[in-house]
Amino acid sequence: MLRLPKIDIVSIDDLSIGEIERIMVMADGFAQRLEAGERLHIAEGMIMATLFYEPSTRTRLSFESAAHRLGGSVISSASMDASSAAKGETLADTVRVVSGYADLIVIRHPYDGAARVAAEYARCPVINAGDGSREHPTQTLCDLYILRKKKGHLRGLTVAICGDLKFGRTVHSLIYALARFGANVVAVPNRGMEVPDYVLARLAAERNYSFSSISISELKALAGGLDAMYLTPSAPHQMALFTSDIPVINPAPPSPGPASLDAFYVTRFQRERRSEAERDQPDYVRFDARALKTSRTQEAVVMHPLPRTDELAYELDTDPRAVYFEQAAAGVPVRMALIAWLLENAGRDTIKPGTAPLVLKAENAPPCSNPNCISRRESRYLRSRFKPAPAVSHHELCLRCEFCERELKVQYVGHSRSRRYYRFDESLLGFVRQWLEDATLVVFETVKQAEEAGYEPYRRGPQREIMNAEEINRAVETMAGQIIRDLPDLARVSIVGIVSHGAVLAVRLCEIIERRTKVRIPCAALDVFRGYDGLQPLGGAQTFDVEDRTIVLTDDVINSGWTVQRAMTTLWKLGRPAGMRLAVLVDRGHRAVPIRPNYVGKNVPTARNERIQVRLGEAGEEGGAKPGDRVMLYSMVESLKEAGESA
Ligand code: NCD
Repeated sequence: MLRLPKIDIVSIDDLSIGEIERIMVMADGFAQRLEAGERLHIAEGMIMATLFYEPSTRTRLSFESAAHRLGGSVISSASMDASSAAKGETLADTVRVVSGYADLIVIRHPYDGAARVAAEYARCPVINAGDGSREHPTQTLCDLYILRKKKGHLRGLTVAICGDLKFGRTVHSLIYALARFGANVVAVPNRGMEVPDYVLARLAAERNYSFSSISISELKALAGGLDAMYLTPSAPHQMALFTSDIPVINPAPPSPGPASLDAFYVTRFQRERRSEAERDQPDYVRFDARALKTSRTQEAVVMHPLPRTDELAYELDTDPRAVYFEQAAAGVPVRMALIAWLLENAGRDTIKPGTAPLVLKAENAPPCSNPNCISRRESRYLRSRFKPAPAVSHHELCLRCEFCERELKVQYVGHSRSRRYYRFDESLLGFVRQWLEDATLVVFETVKQAEEAGYEPYRRGPQREIMNAEEINRAVETMAGQIIRDLPDLARVSIVGIVSHGAVLAVRLCEIIERRTKVRIPCAALDVFRGYDGLQPLGGAQTFDVEDRTIVLTDDVINSGWTVQRAMTTLWKLGRPAGMRLAVLVDRGHRAVPIRPNYVGKNVPTARNERIQVRLGEAGEEGGAKPGDRVMLYSMVESLKEAGESA
């Protein structure tokens, strides 16, 4: 059996510049040997598994061809439907099993960060052939190979990358690589499809690299007459672009001569990564031969990872500067080189020292903010994991997801042993790192979340009870009565409670309404911090429909109103309710948005440094006051800074 070293290529950054250069030299050699019709036996005995959970032509077939050409063999699962994933098997289980059958796994998966998970669970090396919208490192190897072949070098090249730069994973890997090779990038995104912040953050943090962006309409101007514009390198690896009618960014001293473009890298609209509503893109970039007619573009090659849809005119195909089919053909020698390079490294020590990540431990970690992150899609066994990232604001702790790299910004941090919470401030960073290391860090998005988790502010002043169990019960009964009077068509009413006390209230309101009217109202709990995952039908129902229903939103306390606003936005994304009402147990004032509750248990005007804490047991026995229920008012000795605070 062939033992390949456990070197996982999840990101293009998993390969050093020297390694990429070595692979490109090897690819040249393989291209020649293929040309000469040589039969190779380098990988004899190797079995490569291709697990492709998304459609693919080039990547899978060129990988498989590469393995066969090297004398190896291939086993393949070419769709999610054809594998156990269709039966609900987790990715971790699949790769654990497959790494017993194969020496190398090549995986393509729809979720961001999936290749990282596969690499962690597989015993053999894993190569990422595209994970969601994150990265596609081996496409970048092909891109770099062709660019170098056409231009002779990579350093100093200027590449305009056009189209869907938000979800185009080939683009992300390519930009990371061009940054390292000292090439210039000019981003030409379609509107709303700009290079995502997490990519920019990585470039800035790790490589001190940035690039300029121009719009599609500016590209059209460029196609019509680039001579009227100046592409001027204003700093190493950075382009400032300006014309008379485009505002001057970073006015650079007059350059010795305008730069020219070396390549256009055009990409398709990533339709499948959009919601139904966003799938029409009438304004998507369309690239044709006119763009190559100017003095500054005539030397440029036109690249595309393929498949193309309508963004690349067919008339270009016969132009020698159109190199996209060569790019696709390079897939075989380049992937042969990658496999041969792995073989060449057999026996290499692959344990990288000091890479153990500082992570927020399971029970403390909030979900990743990206709904397509593998940690959210396979949350049965995967917990979110974050590393601290450089903060932009002094009052926000910035955490980066280990799987998909999205950032999570948190305003409140807590310590799980002392059960105290603090509004984050830069001065706390030292403590936060320590708590992260001790696995005692807890983070909260709002004070409300912290309080519901039973955390107390760092310093608390006197407190008093403002509602006891009896008063709470009466208030809920009164609100139920108001709802019954106000919404006579109860058959069309549903109640949604904001997690967690709002959901307890929702259940109690439903129980009272059913007792009084015999109408059973559908009820659900909404966790506003979990987006689409957040709606849980209650009372044994499997589904919960918002379409055309009058939704009564319930929460324990309304303060600024932002939480309610967020709940309304989430519900609106799930369907179009006929209307919404708001029921809260306590209205404490301090509204920051124009939202007013329709049903209020008690109005409690409060000072800014005062807070309300609600305790509600689970809805238990039928009717009557629930022992232990109470509403407390307390003041903070150290008032929390109000800006941005929401509850
Ligand atoms: C790309 C991919 O799958 O990300 N295709 C490829 O591998 N050559 C590009 C795309 O699908 O747009």
